[in-house]
Amino acid sequence: MARILTGVQSTGTPHLGNLLGAVIPAIELAKSTENESFFFIADLHSLTQIKNGNALRKNTINTAAAWLACGLDTNKSVFYKQSDINEVTELAWYLNCYFPYQRLTLAHSFKDKSKNLKDINSGLFTYPLLMAADILLYDANIVPVGKDQLQHIEITRDLAIKFNKHNGDTFIIPSPMTDKKTRYIPGTDGNKMSKSKGNTIDIFLNEKNLRKQIMKIKTDSVSIEEPKDYENCNVFNLFSQVASTSEIEIMKKNYINGGFGYGDAKQLLFEKIIEFFNISREKYNFFQKNPELVISELQKGSIKAKAIAKETIERVRSKIGY
Ligand code: ADP
Ligand code: TRP
Repeated sequence: MARILTGVQSTGTPHLGNLLGAVIPAIELAKSTENESFFFIADLHSLTQIKNGNALRKNTINTAAAWLACGLDTNKSVFYKQSDINEVTELAWYLNCYFPYQRLTLAHSFKDKSKNLKDINSGLFTYPLLMAADILLYDANIVPVGKDQLQHIEITRDLAIKFNKHNGDTFIIPSPMTDKKTRYIPGTDGNKMSKSKGNTIDIFLNEKNLRKQIMKIKTDSVSIEEPKDYENCNVFNLFSQVASTSEIEIMKKNYINGGFGYGDAKQLLFEKIIEFFNISREKYNFFQKNPELVISELQKGSIKAKAIAKETIERVRSKIGY
């Protein structure tokens, strides 16, 4: 039995890219009876960016509601909020003392932002060590992540090896899991969909605003009558992420035959997205109206997570010599 663990930052409401690229594949993975899964809302990591308490709480509810709406089974997976488990910050401190400062300055997450050093808080600098604590605290074997997070897993592995060498076997050495076919979901401007780029499709919006976002997708200016290049079309690409093989074939023919405008393609994409996420949208709205249910799911998960965290931290303290 492998223990799978992954965290998602709560920096907004998950968009189509987050759901298809991370949330839904993780939920699928958790369905296997051979896996034990831990999913958490990384709201301590969010604090490196968000300082408004209301926004922090709201984003946590929205992010957790999205996971629940997409079908996460909290009886099978441990689903919790990072900030409920204070052992993680204690472990992060110990790990800080085992990791060379020099190496941390080379981490991408910091280097990318270090052009504006005066805007960087120390939390952002030590971010990878809190992430290592997230993983090592729960003895995770496998950590599903996007490619941008691989360096953080490498840091985690190095830390675990170093600590074990110094103090005797303490931590499990985790492995990253990146899905080769990890979907790259383009945003409305054709670049990678991302909250920071303002190009998202927010599937939990009401139909009117969701349709507006879809109608905004950039296309070329080939006229309605002419055949169109489906392979390089964002609308087609997004459609093929949510449609069945036969629906994709029909859409291809529409593009090749001509007499079919981008407005028509966008309308079909809109209808398909509504159909694909129909149940999730309903559940999400239900959780928005009943946030206490989301909170209680997270609390239930935190109790289970806490029990494991306590055991690990006792083990670590005694190994260090406290
Ligand atoms: P954002 O770029 O919107 O801030 P995050 O960096 O918080 O998104 O990503 C959260 C998760 O969603 C990560 O696992 C990431 O790999 C996945 N993800 C984000 N955007 C996309 C995308 N456009 N296509 C596929 N996966 C994505
Ligand atoms: N840093 C990850 C991201 O931005 C989120 C994260 C925090 C995480 N702790 C983790 C992912 C532990 C996997 C395991 O996507």
